[in-house]
Amino acid sequence: MSTGVHLLTALIPGSFDPPTFGHLDIVGRAVRRFDQVVVGVAGNARKDSPLFSRQERVEMLLEVTSDLDRVVVESFDGLLVDFAARHGVGAIVKGLRAVSDFDYELQMAQLNFRLSGIETFFVPTAPEHSFLSSSLVREVASYGGDVSSMVPAAVVRRLKERFS
Ligand code: PNS
Repeated sequence: MSTGVHLLTALIPGSFDPPTFGHLDIVGRAVRRFDQVVVGVAGNARKDSPLFSRQERVEMLLEVTSDLDRVVVESFDGLLVDFAARHGVGAIVKGLRAVSDFDYELQMAQLNFRLSGIETFFVPTAPEHSFLSSSLVREVASYGGDVSSMVPAAVVRRLKERFS
């Protein structure tokens, strides 16, 4: 039996274009359950052209997680499972908002398990955030709507700059 200390690192991957209170809720809850949390910003996510550059998304996440210990933010290219292996990740953590998220998330979880043996753990989104998505936030902000209850102040600022 191993007597070494076993630290469990969770990876929370996504596009984070931009990060929302929903994302932040999942990061905060993962920090309470795992020894370290890596937030992985996909540089090549299947999005045509992101509103924010990879660098901007990383900067926003660093700002909004600055009060959380044991959180690392990094961007990655290529396969999620390769990034996970480089960081010694023991679990992928994803938030589930509604049944509509489930099909795609299940498929990704099973694919990632087939590729690498890494388990994905699903966390139910807090009900107050269950309608939230980065794409809705982008749309509302693009028309000058108030998104201050949906994203942290640092993100509101960036959205205002982008759409001013
Ligand atoms: O926030 P999103 O856009 O739903 O996140 C999707 C993401 C980034 C987790 C997914 O597209 C991904 O893992 N991309 C990395 C490339 C990869 O590993 N693809 C195979 C699994 S879908």
